[in-house]
Amino acid sequence: MLAAAALRTAAADPGMWLPSLIGQRIDDMRAKGFRLTAEDIYSVNRASMKDAVVLFNGGCTGELVSGEGLLLTNHHCGYGAIQALSSVENDFLTHGFWARSRAEELPAEGVYVRFLVRMEDVTDRLAAGETAQSIAEAARREGKGYRASVEPMYYGTQHFLFVYRQYDDVRLVAAPPSSIGKFGGDTDNWIWPRHTGDFSVFRIYAGADNEPAAYAADNVPYRPARHFAISTQGVREGDFTMIYGFPGNTQQYILSDVVKYVQECSDPMKIAVRTARLDLIAAAQRSDPALRIHYAAKHANIANAWKKWQGEVLGLERLDTYRRKQESEALFAHAMGDAGYGEYHEVLAELRREFARALPYYYTRELLAETLRTVAYGYSAEERNDPLFARRRPVERALYELVFEEYAARNTMLPAIPEFEAGVARCGSAKAYADRIFELAANDPAHAELTALKGGIERLGREIVAQLGTESLRNFNSARMSELYADYVTGLRRWAALCGREGDMFPDANLTLRVAYGSVAGYEYADGTYHEPQTTLDGIIAKDDPSVYDYDIPQALRDLHAAKDYGRWAVEANGRRTVPVCFLATNQTTGGNSGSPILDADGRLVGINFDRTWRSTMSDIEFDPAICRNISVDIRYVLFVMDRIGGVSFLCDLLHLFVRAG
Ligand code: ARG
Ligand code: GLU
Repeated sequence: MLAAAALRTAAADPGMWLPSLIGQRIDDMRAKGFRLTAEDIYSVNRASMKDAVVLFNGGCTGELVSGEGLLLTNHHCGYGAIQALSSVENDFLTHGFWARSRAEELPAEGVYVRFLVRMEDVTDRLAAGETAQSIAEAARREGKGYRASVEPMYYGTQHFLFVYRQYDDVRLVAAPPSSIGKFGGDTDNWIWPRHTGDFSVFRIYAGADNEPAAYAADNVPYRPARHFAISTQGVREGDFTMIYGFPGNTQQYILSDVVKYVQECSDPMKIAVRTARLDLIAAAQRSDPALRIHYAAKHANIANAWKKWQGEVLGLERLDTYRRKQESEALFAHAMGDAGYGEYHEVLAELRREFARALPYYYTRELLAETLRTVAYGYSAEERNDPLFARRRPVERALYELVFEEYAARNTMLPAIPEFEAGVARCGSAKAYADRIFELAANDPAHAELTALKGGIERLGREIVAQLGTESLRNFNSARMSELYADYVTGLRRWAALCGREGDMFPDANLTLRVAYGSVAGYEYADGTYHEPQTTLDGIIAKDDPSVYDYDIPQALRDLHAAKDYGRWAVEANGRRTVPVCFLATNQTTGGNSGSPILDADGRLVGINFDRTWRSTMSDIEFDPAICRNISVDIRYVLFVMDRIGGVSFLCDLLHLFVRAG
């Protein structure tokens, strides 16, 4: 009892650490159960774990699991590639794909992976007069397929060079049917308990010399310097876990005023507009099976962030992040003043003034992105000639009406676009103007009125970029804010150092390789309701419903369950014989961490990360150890599906795992 209670309160460990500096965390990691060394995680002198992790196709993470280039990532990360390889006759999205031999592996055109060759702090080199461009340029010349970039950390107070080796011959090896890989769909997205088999399998190919090479039939499987061993022993609550991957973007140092903006203005606006768009699209999807398919990817895309933002607002409210940040800002300025750094009062004050100036531009840019920029000012001939277009027309028209009306109603901060204003005046309402523009886009896409409106939207876009001084919508920023944040974050680091806690700070995620660590843990979902950290096949069977698209599992899975035919993948859970499916842990993750390896204390692969719980999503701004959890698919479920649904005898790479030793 006591032990269980102690485990259940195990604190999470926020942090997305730079691999080359992991030595600063290794004592803490080892104290929490990790059994390897900093050199095992990152080394430039010998093979290390970093050699088994890739940036997958520019937005996800993947991991090598065999000496012959076999790679695991999420189903939703491979989705585009699987879709591109599918046809009506060979619908791999619906039915899955299992290559029976190397010869059957399918070249996934356009898919690429990047390995980190090395990373290096180049702050001093920049200070000495070198440019980021010249540093990256020189690094690119070091080897075949090399890519390099200099990335800012802590708002540019530090810069790191990242040198990658890119492989472009990547082939699809296996994907489960979507009824497994996307089980639960948008209904379960961001939700625990979760039962999604969110994995897909690729193989990296190289030239005979193991170097990057463009696709060629006689390329050979890439031989990585390192690959992950897979553990089939599973994990238990309290066990150490580590995630190695490419988190995309966090905003942990933003000003309290920005938190207030996100919580009270930005997120609510985006949620409201998307709710209306989703309602419209979903109704169309329900009314017509062809439209259900046509709008599937669009719906999933709109719904993903929509649901995330709702969780974020709830989380910020619950944590009272705005007020707490206000307090800590005041405390910081005061303490630093006492320590002889009087300037931070003014830095914060100027940051506030600059954000107030930038806000209307920032908001209008977000509004445009969610409204007027979501529709096409002219459909292509191909789209118009598609027989489906006639059925899409009422939906598309309604979407135009919706976003024109939303823009007109919510554009409260900047002067509107003159072309838009004139159009509304001419037609009598935003809705009538939307109808007019839709008809032109559908029937006369070269019409001058369309070009004029589009030009007006682009003009406003350029004006906003000029005012903000940056093209990037990242971090609710203007160029000037970035400079002020650099001062502010330098102050925060000084403050932390004064308190002996500098080592607890880490730079915001920016799609560079990071290490997060924590442990397997459930959480208190609501008063009196504890969510266990593991789900099982029985939960899938409980959700199974052939009449609900998101929960209609393959018959083969029903049959396996009915026969309890689990082979070596059977486990005992709560007195039942079942198969583990997904588990929760406390590692700090964000978008981009999809597909990341989740590793045990010995660095063995125990799962693939793919999501967070809904109540975690404010962790990009403030991480709450009590409830922030990442969601991984248990590697044993991945292997079970490969074995029992795919029939993997072909997959020599992993054959040893399918034969029970002893
Ligand atoms: N929420 C996960 C992520 O942010 C999974 C998204 C894909 N799944 C979906 N149902 N849309 O990417
Ligand atoms: N599904 C996300 C991704 O594609 C990861 C989930 C998250 O934001 O934590 O990277």
